[in-house]
Amino acid sequence: MSKHEEIPAAVGDRIRRSLPRHIAIIMDGNGRWAQARGLPRHRGHKAGVEAVRGVVEQCASKGVEALTLFAFSSENWRRPRTEVRLLMELFIATLGREARRLHRNNVRLRVIGDRDAFPARLRERIRDAEDLTAGNSGLTFVIAGNYGGRWDIAHAARRLAERVEAGELAARDVTPERLRPHLSSHDLPDPDLFIRTGGEQRISNFLLWQLAYAELYFTEVLWPDFDARELEHALDWFSRRQRRFGLTGQQVEAIKGA
Ligand code: IPE
Ligand code: IPE
Ligand code: MG
Repeated sequence: MSKHEEIPAAVGDRIRRSLPRHIAIIMDGNGRWAQARGLPRHRGHKAGVEAVRGVVEQCASKGVEALTLFAFSSENWRRPRTEVRLLMELFIATLGREARRLHRNNVRLRVIGDRDAFPARLRERIRDAEDLTAGNSGLTFVIAGNYGGRWDIAHAARRLAERVEAGELAARDVTPERLRPHLSSHDLPDPDLFIRTGGEQRISNFLLWQLAYAELYFTEVLWPDFDARELEHALDWFSRRQRRFGLTGQQVEAIKGA
């Protein structure tokens, strides 16, 4: 007989919940939203900020623990110089304007990704907003900026390699459990619900490791149009999924009924 495993308590907990603890969103479609209106692409990004505010407030009031939004990927530097510059300016202005509001709403802001490549002024704004909100106990709002899932995993692997090099760890001790604490979202539960707006059905190098067991929701709605009703649709869809984590449907129903 091969090895038989007990069902971890954490799996049971995830199966029973109908509200996601952590939602991760690829906010896509800003450019197309603007183009459809005959506007320059950056107007779409600006409109997208309004949608962010709405989703953050809705998640906070529902008691979602964490929300991660993909704002800028490590591949987005390849876009035209002006678009990248305008995006950086938008991040700086938005963080400056919204930090106090987030703080008032008891939201804890965090930025993940390689921030070394950002302009100094943006790095400062990020640090200020993180410091201001660090002690808050409500929603953890994570912005993925200059983020790449492969970067995250490679970075964590490097940390482990350093420990092996220092003789603290043997190579055979490199396991998923030991790698996880070195990922950028180590202190948050893995996302339960992944949403991508804008019609594409791909991960685009977002949270590759963390999305292992997320439910994947794709919608044609462009990000600036993603409002409270759209989020409710996604949450409703999520609540009707049967999450199995490798178990059988019968096992899952037994856990839910217990
Ligand atoms: C997503 O919208 C925002 C960022 C990548 C910064 P896009 O700018 O990718 O919009 P589309 O996909 O071109 O419509
Ligand atoms: C993913 O959107 C990144 C963000 C939303 C920040 P993209 O628009 O860059 O993704 P691709 O290029 O269509 O895969
Ligand atoms: Mg896009």
